[in-house]
Amino acid sequence: MGGIAGNPRTKAAPLPEPAPFPGFVSLVSAGPGDPELLTLKAVDRLARADVVLFDDLASGPVLDHAGPKAELIAVGKRAGRPSARQDHVNALLVEHALAGRRVVRLKSGDAGFFGRLEEELVALAQAGIGFEIVPGVTSASAAAAAAGIPLTRRLTARRVQFITGADVTGQLPGDINWAAIADPAVTTVVFMGQRSFPELARGLRAHGLPGDTPALFAESVGHPHQRLIRTTVDGMAAMMEASAVSQPGLIIYGPLAFDI
Ligand SMILES: C[S@@+](CC[C@H](N)C(=O)[O-])C[C@H]1O[C@@H](n2cnc3c(N)ncnc32)[C@H](O)[C@@H]1O
Repeated sequence: MGGIAGNPRTKAAPLPEPAPFPGFVSLVSAGPGDPELLTLKAVDRLARADVVLFDDLASGPVLDHAGPKAELIAVGKRAGRPSARQDHVNALLVEHALAGRRVVRLKSGDAGFFGRLEEELVALAQAGIGFEIVPGVTSASAAAAAAGIPLTRRLTARRVQFITGADVTGQLPGDINWAAIADPAVTTVVFMGQRSFPELARGLRAHGLPGDTPALFAESVGHPHQRLIRTTVDGMAAMMEASAVSQPGLIIYGPLAFDI
């Protein structure tokens, strides 16, 4: 203890006065889509926002909580489309905050999961803009809850891991830790993995995960057209091979509690 600041012989230089507060950005988690899964804090920030920048997956009834005067701006990037718009989103956030507005950046699920949160935080920090992160319900926990199963199990799944099935090019990432994701004693949640799952499943089998490992497909969780399908890793691969992706979906596999 007692670093430089605590040393009476060190004359500390006065700290610069903080810049006048230009505006503020709340990076708000919207949950999977069902407005009942918004947190009270998210509802409060939406109600007080001057402007709401929202993703495709953070739209619909959750936006009803924005105040009647709030400007609503769609900044979504659908999976598979080029994501060069991140710079544009960063610029909009900074521009609105510098204009002194209360900005809500509404992100699907929990803002900290696969949502390019870091890029936006860096842009705000570089511009000297104050921000907060409002956590929320990730689609992963909402999917498990909708299916009536836990993500961890005391004896058989003491670990849970969240992975992405798509890198920046939309392909299965080339640096996958196969030993980790083929571990049969772990629950694995695959985001953005519908297209690449047949390839992923081949890798899992090659690394020893049995093809009859339970697997859950959870599509449009928290939306009226939600779909939940219980199958196996092999069954999931066949299903994904045969179907085109039109809705957001998660794949969860491992020692899932399908026997409940
Ligand atoms: C860019 S990531 C954002 C994840 C988000 N931050 C979260 O915590 O759920 C988008 C992916 O999350 C999953 N996802 C998001 N919302 C979903 C929903 N309502 N139902 C199923 N999957 C969803 C899908 O895998 C989708 O491709």
